[in-house]
Order: sequence, then C-alpha cells, then structure tokens
Amino acid sequence: MSYEYIIVEKYDRVGLIKLDRPEALNALCVGLIGELGKAVADLEADDSIGCLVVTGSEKAFAAGADIKEMVDKDFQTVYREDFITDDWEVLANTRKPVIAAVAGYALGGGCEVAMMCDFIIAADNAKFGQPEITIGTIPGAGGTQRLTRLVGKAKAMDMCLTGRMMDAEEAERSGLVSRIVPVDSLIEEALAAAKKIAGYSLPATMIAKEAVDRAYEVSLSEGLRFERRTFHSTFALEDRREGMMAFIEKRKANWKHR
Ligand code: CAA
Repeated sequence: MSYEYIIVEKYDRVGLIKLDRPEALNALCVGLIGELGKAVADLEADDSIGCLVVTGSEKAFAAGADIKEMVDKDFQTVYREDFITDDWEVLANTRKPVIAAVAGYALGGGCEVAMMCDFIIAADNAKFGQPEITIGTIPGAGGTQRLTRLVGKAKAMDMCLTGRMMDAEEAERSGLVSRIVPVDSLIEEALAAAKKIAGYSLPATMIAKEAVDRAYEVSLSEGLRFERRTFHSTFALEDRREGMMAFIEKRKANWKHR
C-alpha cells in the first residue's frame, strides 16, 4: 500500500514507519495521523512482524501537530471532535514493541508521539520540546502527563512552561531517551535493536512490555502482583521451556512463536 505522508518498509521481522512530510518538518496533520494509524494496525496484525520502529528525517522526527490545520478551530469544534482524537493514541495502544528513532526536532505532538513508543533512541542532533506555550496553548497528546512521568515534575514544568528544547544529552540524563547514537547510524542502530527484540519469542516480548507498562498505571504492590502472575503465565508458553532448554543444552533457542 502506498501512502502520501509516510513510508513503510519491512526489514526481516521489523516494520519501519518513516514520517515523510518534509515540507512541513513532518507536522502531524490529520492525513498523516490517519496513515500512521493504518500502518501501525497493519503491522500489528502482520504475523511476520515482531517489532516496529517509527522515525522521521535527519532534520525532524516531527515538529508537532499541524498549526496551520489548528489555527481556525474553535472550542465547540475541538470539543465535539475530541481533538487530539484517539487516532493519535494508536502507538500507545500497540501491543507489539515499538521503538522511536528520533533525529532532529521532536516538538509538541512529535515529542508526544515519540513518548507513546516503548523507548526512544535519540540521534546526537535530537531536540525535544513541548513548545505549545509559545503558541498560546498547552500539550494535548500526553505532553503534560507522559513527560512528567518520564522526566519528573521539575523538568516537565520547565519544558511546558518555558517551551525550551532539551538536547539529546539532557534527554538521556533525564530519562526521556534510552540511548544516544550518531545521527548517521540512527536507523541502523534502531533496526539492530528492533531485530534483536523481534528475534525473541513474540508472546514473551509482548508480556514484558505489558508488565512494564503496568508500572505507570497501578500501585507498586498491584504492579508486583501483575508481574508475578504474568511471569507465571510465561510457563504456559512452549517458548519458555525452549528458551531454558536451549540455555542448558548450550544452543540457540528455536522459538516457535515469533
Ligand atoms: N505545523 C505546521 N507547519 C509547520 C510546523 C507545525 N507544527 N512546524 C514547522 N512547520 C512548517 C513551517 O511553517 C514551514 O513551512 P513554510 O515553509 O510553508 O513556511 C516549514 O515547516 C519549515 O519550518 P521553519 O521554516 O519554521 O523551519 P526552521 O528550521 O526555521 O524552524 C522549528 C524549525 C523550530 C521546528 C519551527 O518550525 C517551529 O517552531 N515549529 C513549530 C513547533 C511547535 O510549536 N510545535 C507544537 C505544535 S502544537 C502541538 O503539537 C499540540 C499538541 O500537543 C498535539
């Protein structure tokens, strides 16, 4: 399927989605968000895919929601549409692992989309920010919530109230990104991480993701209980036995469910 605003490629068991609206620094217009939702749903349903990577260009992951589309909207419209609509949350609702590979600007909705992914690999030129305050509004796709959980109140308040950008070093120090790589090798590094993940048993990676995500929703005791029970559930997987047998027999695991 061909798209107008994104490019989808498959590398072995990895689905790569590249945001491709260079004339607007990948601003997240309704069309782009719709295509992103469709591509993610297709890759999620595709049994040959075990991990997704979302990326942009070297200059911009995405410079935010499309300001030109928003400028004339009124309260009645955004309230009735429930804008930013649930279409935006598609990445957050994905059950397969998703990596954001971020180079250049990840601002406003761009930073928010990156934070919906399971982790962010940043190029050394990446810049993160929630600059909505500079255009008279506030983040609307999780910026005040996910950013605060990831980097804490002090940094989140600083970002949302001043609108300043954070470079890759600060983002890594603050816990927003998992690692920094040279911009020239961003895709290669992200694909290598994704291939590693996609090479494991898919139910195991999905269960691991689900368990980590619970940490953001429930108390520690409930989270630990959830973890214990889902850990137990892995004992129902053929791949759990295969993984342990492969270790004991000093051979590579031959996963059945990928
Ligand atoms: N929406 C629409 N168009 C955008 C855009 C956006 N968010 N960001 C950039 N563009 C467009 C520019 O209008 C420009 O188009 P024209 O050539 O037609 O004028 C083109 O992309 C290139 O942008 P610049 O000329 O501004 O490029 P630059 O290198 O000088 O600056 C930038 C780069 C600092 C990222 C700057 O473009 C910028 O500040 N963009 C807006 C960032 C922003 O405020 N994002 C938050 C949006 S609101 C939001 O996201 C709400 C939410 O929570 C969902």
